[in-house]
Amino acid sequence: MVIVSLAGSPKQPSRSSALLAVAHRWLARHNVEIVHFSLQDFVAEDLLFANFNSPQILALNHALSRADGLLVATPVYKAAYSGALKSILDLLPERALEHKVVLPLATAGSSNHFLALDYALKPVLSALKAQEVLHGVFATGLQIDYASREATLEAALAERLEESLTTFYAAIQRRGVSLATKEHAANHE
Ligand SMILES: Cc1cc2nc3c(=O)[nH]c(=O)nc-3n(C[C@H](O)[C@H](O)[C@H](O)COP(=O)(O)O)c2cc1C
Repeated sequence: MVIVSLAGSPKQPSRSSALLAVAHRWLARHNVEIVHFSLQDFVAEDLLFANFNSPQILALNHALSRADGLLVATPVYKAAYSGALKSILDLLPERALEHKVVLPLATAGSSNHFLALDYALKPVLSALKAQEVLHGVFATGLQIDYASREATLEAALAERLEESLTTFYAAIQRRGVSLATKEHAANHE
């Protein structure tokens, strides 16, 4: 099982990236291969001037083409997700998330905008033809300790994240079974 992880915060260190790092640890324990990209891997001019041939965008798209799922993390900015993350998603081909299961993660200053994933990010993931966009994990900054070398989460958040990762993992496994069944049927027609 291979997943792409994408950290969409302009800041490093970052709370949403810390949430992603904790998710990485869980996935690694379950033998999931993770191909990680962070906003800082991309050249700012490529994003600003929509360079569709940016080597990092091509690398992201290639990684997605062989991945089963996408884990994407963002801070809430002005009641939505980060504009820099949008500038990456804008450069992906229209069907970049076809057949992928997606789990979005977001952190915010308060819980006022806890629906931001639902009304802002999810429609974009759907436009990229994601097969299944799971109920995301939303957290406020106070629930995350990202100052220490290994980020830690408040217990209730850690539990919610683990539940979501279990669902993510199971959805990818189901997807693998259904693809194998279709392939088997096609080979025996
Ligand atoms: C430009 C900017 C806009 C923000 N807008 C919001 C907002 O609308 N609602 C909110 O709850 N938090 C907002 N915040 C707070 C961030 O979402 C919060 O600090 C988040 O945890 C940062 O994640 P990061 O450390 O991964 O960048 C904003 C922060 C910045 C810098």
